[in-house]
Parts: sequence; structure tokens; C-alpha cells
Amino acid sequence: MGRFENKVILITGGGSGIGLATVKQFIKEGANVSVFDYRITDDLISTGCDYYQVDIRNSKLIKESVAAVINKWAKIDVLVNNAGIEFVCPLEDMEEEDWDRVLDTNLKGMFLTTKEVLPYLKQTHGVIVNTASQLALVGSGLFTAYTASKAAILNFTKSLSIEIAKDQVRVNAICPGAINTPLLNRQFENGKIGPQGSLNDLINMHPMGRLGEPEEIASPILFLCSNEASFMTGAYLVVDGGYTSW
Ligand SMILES: NC(=O)c1ccc[n+]([C@@H]2O[C@H](COP(=O)([O-])OP(=O)(O)OC[C@H]3O[C@@H](n4cnc5c(N)ncnc54)[C@H](O)[C@@H]3O)[C@@H](O)[C@H]2O)c1
Repeated sequence: MGRFENKVILITGGGSGIGLATVKQFIKEGANVSVFDYRITDDLISTGCDYYQVDIRNSKLIKESVAAVINKWAKIDVLVNNAGIEFVCPLEDMEEEDWDRVLDTNLKGMFLTTKEVLPYLKQTHGVIVNTASQLALVGSGLFTAYTASKAAILNFTKSLSIEIAKDQVRVNAICPGAINTPLLNRQFENGKIGPQGSLNDLINMHPMGRLGEPEEIASPILFLCSNEASFMTGAYLVVDGGYTSW
């Protein structure tokens, strides 16, 4: 029997990369998985999960879709706030709407989704995992909006953990290093140089000398959601191939 048999899981940004790998691992472990993503891909559909076309910047859509999940399963045990976007740009060239798009997706979307799901997690003594980044812990030029959003996620997680511990709801964050996903690959497409230089420069910033694979983040996310992490709350788990160890 899987660790998540009969558990109801909600994941944002489950259509690609880390989220998609996490959806697959939860299903393998017996969970009923629902995904909120604004892009519904064939890869997502073929997992057999329930999917809802939701932009997590839209509180009305979140509300309606959480109601649909509750209507089907009558509970939610786990929320994984994983949806996020990158934006590579010098500060002086950044438009106000660029800043808002990154912060609204990576941070406000997390707030809106959590606010809507929290009453149900209180009923199940559930768990939340928020996807931050190794760049929540260290800076990176050309990545000010992204790193600001990811650093904020860590203190959002800590403060929320204090607020909801009495309700027996745990909330933790995960800080992946560079992971081989479409988000990462977009930084280098058509010969572009990423915020940390070329792809090889970025790989060399990881003492392990390689990128992580999405499954290597999915497994620690499942750990944080499982009873094996029953005394963890307000923490962040760094899974970065040593990026922040130099
Ligand atoms: N790939 C990396 O190197 C890396 C490193 C550290 C942290 N992260 C974080 O991990 C998370 C997943 O990243 P990934 O690399 O798998 O990216 P990805 O682009 O492969 O997947 C992100 C998913 O989120 C969805 N999404 C984006 N904006 C959305 C919105 N407004 N509403 C609903 N869905 C939305 C996308 O459609 C996509 O399916 C992100 O929060 C990212 O910041 C990634």
C-alpha cells in the first residue's frame, strides 16, 4: 500500500517539470491528485489525474476549482504550491508589469491558493509544501524579481507555520537547485545566456557537476508531505546539488 492511499492532493503548476514529476509520484503512491495549471498539456492528461485550467493569480477561478475538488472528494489532505515563473532581466529594463507578473504568480498566487484550501486542511490535519528555490538563499544578478519572490516564500512559510501549528497543519518549503525542466531550458534557448551565465557555467556552480532531475525534487516533496516528516514545520529543505554550499 502506498504512503498516500486515499489521500487527496492538490498541486499547482502540475503540468510540467517538477510539478508533473510530483503528480506522477503521488499517483504511484496511491493518491487522488488534482492539478491547477493554466496550461493543460497532453503529458498532464495522460497521468490520469484530475486537472483544472486555473491561473493562480485569479482568486475567483481558484475558489470555483477548489469547490469542484471538494465536491468530488469531500476533503483535501495536501497542498503543493509549486506553480512559478522565471524572468531574466536587468532591473533598469524591467517594466512594472514584469515585476507584478513574477510576484503575482510566485507569491500572491501561493497566498490566494493557500487561503482557499486552508479551511479544508484544518479538517484533515493536512500538509502544505511551497516550492521556493536555492535562489531564495543567495542572490543572482538579472533575477531580482524571481529571487525576491522566492526569498519571500521562506518567511511566508515560517510565519504561516506558527499561525497554523495549533490546527495541526504543517507547512514547509523546498529549495531546489537548477533542475532540468522547461523553465530552466527556456533560459538558454536560441543561444541565450542565463542569469548565471551559460548552461555549463550554471552546471559548474553545483558541486555535484550536473543538473537535478524533476524526480529528484518530487521525492523530497513527497517526504515533506508524508508522516515521516511529522515533526517538520516552518522549515525549508535544500535540494540543490550543493549549489549553496560553496
Ligand atoms: N527548474 C529549476 O531549475 C527550478 C529551480 C528552483 C525552483 N524552481 C521552482 O519550481 C517550480 C516548478 O518549476 P519548473 O522548473 O517545474 O517549471 P515549469 O515551467 O516546467 O513548470 C511550471 C508550471 O507552472 C505552471 N504555471 C505557471 N504560471 C502559472 C499560473 N499563473 N497559474 C497556473 N499555473 C501556472 C506552468 O504552466 C507550468 O506547468 C517553480 O516554482 C520554480 O520557480 C525551479
